[in-house]
Amino acid sequence: MNAFKHGLAVLGLIAASAHAANQVSIHIDAGKPGPVINKHVYGQFAEHLGTGVYEGMWVGTKSNIPNTRGWRNDVVDALKALHVPLVRWPGGCFADSYHWRDGIGPQDKRPSNVHGSHVEEINAVGTHEFFDLIDMLGADAYINGNVGSGSVQEMSDWVEYMTADGGSPLARLRAQNGHEKPFKVAYFGIGNELWGCGGNMKPDYYANLYSNYEHFLRAPQKARPKMIASGGDTEWTQVLSKELKGRTIGISVHQYTVPTGNWDVKGKALGFEEGEWISTLANTLKMDQIVKDHVAVLDKNDPEKKIGLMVDEWGTWYDEAGAKSALYQQNSLRDALVAALNFNIFHEHAERVTLTTIAQMVNVLQAMILTDKEKMVLTPTYYAFQMYVPFQDAKSLPLAITDNTRYTLGATTIPGVSASAARAKDGKMYLALVNTDPSKAVDVAVEVTGTKVKGAAGKVLTSVAMDAHNTFENPQVIEPAAFGTRAADGKLSIKVPAKAVMVVALEE
Ligand code: AHR
Repeated sequence: MNAFKHGLAVLGLIAASAHAANQVSIHIDAGKPGPVINKHVYGQFAEHLGTGVYEGMWVGTKSNIPNTRGWRNDVVDALKALHVPLVRWPGGCFADSYHWRDGIGPQDKRPSNVHGSHVEEINAVGTHEFFDLIDMLGADAYINGNVGSGSVQEMSDWVEYMTADGGSPLARLRAQNGHEKPFKVAYFGIGNELWGCGGNMKPDYYANLYSNYEHFLRAPQKARPKMIASGGDTEWTQVLSKELKGRTIGISVHQYTVPTGNWDVKGKALGFEEGEWISTLANTLKMDQIVKDHVAVLDKNDPEKKIGLMVDEWGTWYDEAGAKSALYQQNSLRDALVAALNFNIFHEHAERVTLTTIAQMVNVLQAMILTDKEKMVLTPTYYAFQMYVPFQDAKSLPLAITDNTRYTLGATTIPGVSASAARAKDGKMYLALVNTDPSKAVDVAVEVTGTKVKGAAGKVLTSVAMDAHNTFENPQVIEPAAFGTRAADGKLSIKVPAKAVMVVALEE
């Protein structure tokens, strides 16, 4: 379906549900801007896993797929349009068995080795290639180091290799390998999931290890990456925030959304019943309480607010049935709602949640992009990220929902509407709305103090089916459509269709 026809279909959806609309009121205080929503909240995770890097992004210079120094042009262009602010690499669990020296020097001389469940790693993408991608995207780099099977010396050398200038043998080696100037490492993660794949450790043990590693990470003062400690549950946050004061700027948390809540039978990516629609959204909304629980610990141990909560793995995780590569899954309208609900939660906690990276960028878990050889398709999650671009580095605005509707199915009830507002860098005020109800539209009465609002214009993402998705054969089944409305008698009312994500600029 082309964008015009899709727009008409969306208007049809709004009209069809007009008589059945729910009603809520939203109040925004434009005069009291809150914390800035760090653009790194919109970060992405690219792990050497499945076809996430090889095939999905990297095809090599000899490929027939158009590429720039090995990175496929279609994917890079699509990611550029998304204003990706940050990329975490090379893992994940992969990071804790990655040895950076395997990925430098002439590509044809690099070793092949085996990772995870005996997956061959060809090491064609290493440090230099990753920073080439980062440069093309105009993003910041978040490198994750190897604690699990590496050493202090190895990690220290890597940081020196990337960041040192002139008078260092490792800087000279970097120059020999084609990059005279230091790379800019914005963040450096010391290990990953140390409670599990990163080494089955206890938090106290890791806290000691972290201090040792961090102490020896050599970088020129002005180029020193911000160091992130890898966390776990609130016990980990408790120990790390007490023990690592002054040594870390963030503690990470990983939180995936599994539709059934059962890791053995997670639920399907497509063709699910309404029961799995609501359970997925209910499970993803748990992010709010999880963040609150960690923030409560941080508020106790770090009242100066020097340590951020970095949700550096989040997103949906479905059953892999018939997946063409590891952790490959389709992505539907439901995923777009999951993304938007999480964005609204992260905005709410903007003071502490200063970085997140969705898992993952391409072909793995809740991806922005899916590829099949030379074909590429953009997912509903891609469009959710695109619609929320104005929130990057915007100032959050206090927002209250009065008499929110409830969406209920069986024993599960969730809020009908989720919303977030901010004053963006372009000076405009933006409002994001999610309607979780798959059948009923909602009329949102918007009241703003501190300014007069004349109308709203932006984009809405919805469709007829809960699992509407794009395929290589039909890549435009679901795309955002234009939306606009005017205030009447000084009052602004926005009709949000059932099962929709909407982002509008409020005209003042
Ligand atoms: O994102 C996939 C995997 O999930 C990551 O490698 C790991 O950190 C997490 O368990």
